[in-house]
Amino acid sequence: SRAFTAKGDGFLYCEDRRVQDVMESVPEKRPFYLYSKPQLSRNFLAYQSALQGISSIVGYAIKANNNVKILEHFRSLGSGAVLVSGNELRLALHAGFDPTRCVFNGNGKLPEELVLAAQNDVLVNIDSEFDLAHIVEAGKIANKCVRVLLRINPDVDPQVHPYVATGNKNSKFGIRNEKLQWFLDEIKQHPNEVKLVGAHCHLGSTITKASISFFLFLLRKCVPQVNIFRDAALLMVQYMDEIKSQGFDLKYLNIGGGLGIDYYHTGAVLPTPRDLVDTVRDLVVSRGLTLIMEPGRSLVANAAALVNRVTGVKTNGNKNFIVIDGSMSELIRPSLYDAYQHIELVAPAGSDAEVKTYDVVGPVCESADFLGKNRELPTPKRGDGIVVHDAGAYCMSMASTYNLKMRPPEYWIEDDGSITKIRHAETFDDHLRYFEGL
Ligand code: LLP
Repeated sequence: SRAFTAKGDGFLYCEDRRVQDVMESVPEKRPFYLYSKPQLSRNFLAYQSALQGISSIVGYAIKANNNVKILEHFRSLGSGAVLVSGNELRLALHAGFDPTRCVFNGNGKLPEELVLAAQNDVLVNIDSEFDLAHIVEAGKIANKCVRVLLRINPDVDPQVHPYVATGNKNSKFGIRNEKLQWFLDEIKQHPNEVKLVGAHCHLGSTITKASISFFLFLLRKCVPQVNIFRDAALLMVQYMDEIKSQGFDLKYLNIGGGLGIDYYHTGAVLPTPRDLVDTVRDLVVSRGLTLIMEPGRSLVANAAALVNRVTGVKTNGNKNFIVIDGSMSELIRPSLYDAYQHIELVAPAGSDAEVKTYDVVGPVCESADFLGKNRELPTPKRGDGIVVHDAGAYCMSMASTYNLKMRPPEYWIEDDGSITKIRHAETFDDHLRYFEGL
């Protein structure tokens, strides 16, 4: 079920609340993010129930959304965390995550960040020769034996936007298989500083072409490419078998994140966490491994919308524009990746509202400042509510203050339908504070 749906009365709801009513009760008259807490729970439980009977860690990729309340919620449901910076690690600790169920990823982890990870017994992915050297150094400084996973680049094509593909051969992430032996030899040299415990891969993000039904699973040999996750996992366990034969005791297979969501709202059948788990289950169980997954988007994206107001409507030449108060500063994915996010008015249009093809744009001084292009929408009036859907992942966490828009407040709908603020609005005074006393 979807958190945000238009019901029979034509109004858009978040769970059982009209978004229009929420807009009226929120004191800030500016764009805000609205989340459904029940949807966050449903998304997490989809992973948890798929993983029944498998030793596993769901590591929420907190770069997707670093709201502390959301982190605490996932932690309370049993989540681990996937981190890409020292500050993300600090935030995970602040939110109470068990550091031994956290993974530190990245191609440019700083030596001091690695020391922090070592001190806290976080799992660390090795990304390169220099990265391994820095991890060994951190182990020495922290006087810890760091548990490490080798991030292997599986060289598969997830068929996504090149900016979010990470496991192909020209990617800056991970190590290539022909270098594997060098890493194993190097690790053997440092038994007090590093302990190799697993392998990691991450194919990319927004993956929707990995769908696998049981029927297709049986047909797999005739339908190659149907499941890149299994292709990658198969490769990984082959590497792991080889690594184990050299005396390493490997425990973790980390298959990364990457599951896409139905941004187009077409109701298309997309691969679910269960599909993903089922494609790798046998590989993991037969080897007695612990499966690590690193979902970001599929846990948070569909649980939020950016709620905006219409400032006005204009026509230039043959283009129609709906100008709203939200912009690329609050939500940059359309500008940056040409990403599609569904846009909808929160209240039914009057019978006199003409449906036209609109670009939905913000007030920022950039032609790239659009939230959606060529959308069929009823002509709205000043002040009407208009939402950008599926805004829970990589939206607030990528927001900026460009044009001094200041980052928006965040609210969620609780399980009982009440509204709670979960992040303060950033204000103009916050900006001035950076210059105090200079
Ligand atoms: N693990 C690793 C190693 C990653 O690099 C990523 C995302 C994830 C897990 C989580 O992937 P997810 O389940 O969220 O697809 N800003 C882009 C997405 C960048 C993803 C970067 N890596 C966007 O807005 O689409």
